[in-house]
Amino acid sequence: MKFYLETQGCQMNEHDSEVARAIFVRHGLEESDSPDEADVVVLNTCSVRAGAEKRAISRLNDLARRIQPHALLGAMGCVVERLKEAIFESVHRLDFALGPDALGHLPEILVNRSRRRFWPGEDSLSVLPRLSEGPIRWLVAMRGCNSFCSYCIVPYVRGRERSRPPDEILAEAAELVRLGAREIVVLGQNLAAYSYQGWTLARLLEALSALPGIGWIRYETFYPSDVRADLLERIASEPKLCKFIHTPIQTGSDPVLRAMNRRYTVAEFVELVRNARRIIPGVALSGDLIVGFPTETEADHQNTLRVLDEVRYDFLFHFKYSPRPGTAAYALGDPIPDEVKARRLRDVMLLQRRISAEKNRELVGRELAVLVTSTNPKKPGELQGRTQTNRIVFFEGASSLIGTFVTVKITSSSNFSLRGSIEAVRDQRLPPMMR
Ligand code: 5AD
Ligand code: SF4
Repeated sequence: MKFYLETQGCQMNEHDSEVARAIFVRHGLEESDSPDEADVVVLNTCSVRAGAEKRAISRLNDLARRIQPHALLGAMGCVVERLKEAIFESVHRLDFALGPDALGHLPEILVNRSRRRFWPGEDSLSVLPRLSEGPIRWLVAMRGCNSFCSYCIVPYVRGRERSRPPDEILAEAAELVRLGAREIVVLGQNLAAYSYQGWTLARLLEALSALPGIGWIRYETFYPSDVRADLLERIASEPKLCKFIHTPIQTGSDPVLRAMNRRYTVAEFVELVRNARRIIPGVALSGDLIVGFPTETEADHQNTLRVLDEVRYDFLFHFKYSPRPGTAAYALGDPIPDEVKARRLRDVMLLQRRISAEKNRELVGRELAVLVTSTNPKKPGELQGRTQTNRIVFFEGASSLIGTFVTVKITSSSNFSLRGSIEAVRDQRLPPMMR
């Protein structure tokens, strides 16, 4: 028996797919690269924007047409939770649908070959064994979200915030290191708010850094007003903690922030950025931004551009507003015409491309610590890796270096990546960040 698994959406979905993969393998299934010859075919879906959901449904229908007649077709993830049983009306050939955290039902589905059944998402945080390859592994510290930003579906499909006990997280991290992880990405929709019987994220990260053999530790996502000085200080003082913070601003206009139900002002966000850069020299900042929120005026948009130019994010993910049924903002409709959204998005993209390119150019001539992650998919003779600040670097070298830390001298840069040559292999002596 063979399975085929495809993942859309965020890193939480990547993680959950690894859990599904482990369950399949434990039940004797073998992974297939193609849906055509698989006996079980699963798509892990994202519903954060209408476009993502449409892609999920059309991919499921696509798979439905290609797979073998006897094969089981399943969907998992956020689209399942949003549509519930109605997903079977959008994808007639679908056999099973699992909401987030409902993966514990996969074994009974495989055994009973259950058909046309929906399992709702669960509030569990069960640690299921998983399989993954490559030097970067995901680790879930908390799930769910209590923020209820007015545009966002996540609290409805992923439930309320729940933090895992630190001993469980530490044990899983130790296991991942034993299995070859060199970098661990600690995940949570609202990770800065991690809280378990007096443990904060700062304390958890300190304990993770002390695990024998652990390499770099990364973290996502921080809600801006939950980022406290002690967390920034911990990231600054521990060499293994990546000098990289993903904290989304969403908009650079106070009235729009209020309408989005975000709990900070632009001035407070700018202050956070200033503190982060002061406390953690060389830190890279990354964020998300939405253009075309229903109440966004042209003046709001111009403010956003000004603020982005002041914040100077290293990386920015930008999106057109997409109304999600069930969220508070849905009642506001979608009054901004698509061509206006597209133009505002282009303004943001061009500004950010210039800033990112400038920041990358500043790194030419520097020696940076890099974790070698894989071969370059576009040029298999070449390697690629990541810096602590999450920049992609291309360089020549033997594939036996994958999974080691090297020092790369940067020789050129582009908007989105760096290029250089290996100066030293540093492996066991885990390098501090170098800029
Ligand atoms: N429309 C557009 N973008 C959205 N995001 C979340 N909900 C929406 C929506 N309804 C973006 C936010 C968030 C990122 C993961 O997706 O910027 O931070
Ligand atoms: Fe991830 Fe949110 Fe998309 Fe779900 S809806 S896959 S939580 S980004």
